Amino acid sequence: MKTQITDMQGDISVSFDFIPVLAHEVRNPLTNINLSVEILDSFLHDSEMKVYTEVIRRNVGRINQLILDLLNRQKFADMMPVQLSVHDLLNEVVAITHDRCSLKHIEIVKSFEEDRLVVWNRSNMIIALTNIVINAVDAMSSTTGVLQLTAKCDDGKYVLRIKDNGCGISKQNLKNIFKAYYTSKEGGLGLGLSITLAILKQNGIDVVVESSAGYGTCFILSF
Ligand SMILES: Nc1ncnc2c1ncn2[C@@H]1O[C@H](COP(=O)(O)OP(=O)(O)OP(=O)(O)O)[C@@H](O)[C@H]1O
Ligand SMILES: [Mg+2]
Repeated sequence: MKTQITDMQGDISVSFDFIPVLAHEVRNPLTNINLSVEILDSFLHDSEMKVYTEVIRRNVGRINQLILDLLNRQKFADMMPVQLSVHDLLNEVVAITHDRCSLKHIEIVKSFEEDRLVVWNRSNMIIALTNIVINAVDAMSSTTGVLQLTAKCDDGKYVLRIKDNGCGISKQNLKNIFKAYYTSKEGGLGLGLSITLAILKQNGIDVVVESSAGYGTCFILSF
């Protein structure tokens, strides 16, 4: 049975005072990872193995960039919304999540119709869309996973759909997914979607989630 959730109440704010402290502390282990991967790389002569050190390097770079964005945000109070192409933003999210998808052999099917220019907070929106995509990847199997990304005009609104054929969410759990600290994953923080909802609201975007336990989930964003 397909169930749907709308009208979510967010319970988390996008700004946290502990960000500068956390950002500073996260850079120490990251530097250690970088140094270790360089040493590891110098011992690797097999190009197939080097693919994995490249993945580590790229993703450490992404974490570093996120930390810099967070620190800049503290300096400039709140980052200003800017004019963006929805297609460019989606392509950037696909690039950022590419490693995670390819490590799990997830097929990505893009269907982007006409583009739309929007005025959004760019780095926040990348975080929001990336969270939705990563959850979809987590929910799918590595043998049959297909992620569909659709962007098109529908009834005067622009609509983005992020659809997976993963484990789905039961009607009972669907009520909780946007709550801070709700997680069904071992090692999950349960923060991704509460942050995502706050960012979507901040940018005037409505979200509806449709899911069928056992069949998959679709996040529908409209504006
Ligand atoms: N596409 C999806 N398919 C199945 N379940 C999902 C999907 N997206 C979200 N969920 C459910 O919603 C829960 C909350 O997601 P959320 O991103 O907030 O936290 P998380 O992924 O568990 O941890 P993290 O904070 O590390 O992202 C997940 O634990 C999962 O149960
Ligand atoms: Mg998550």
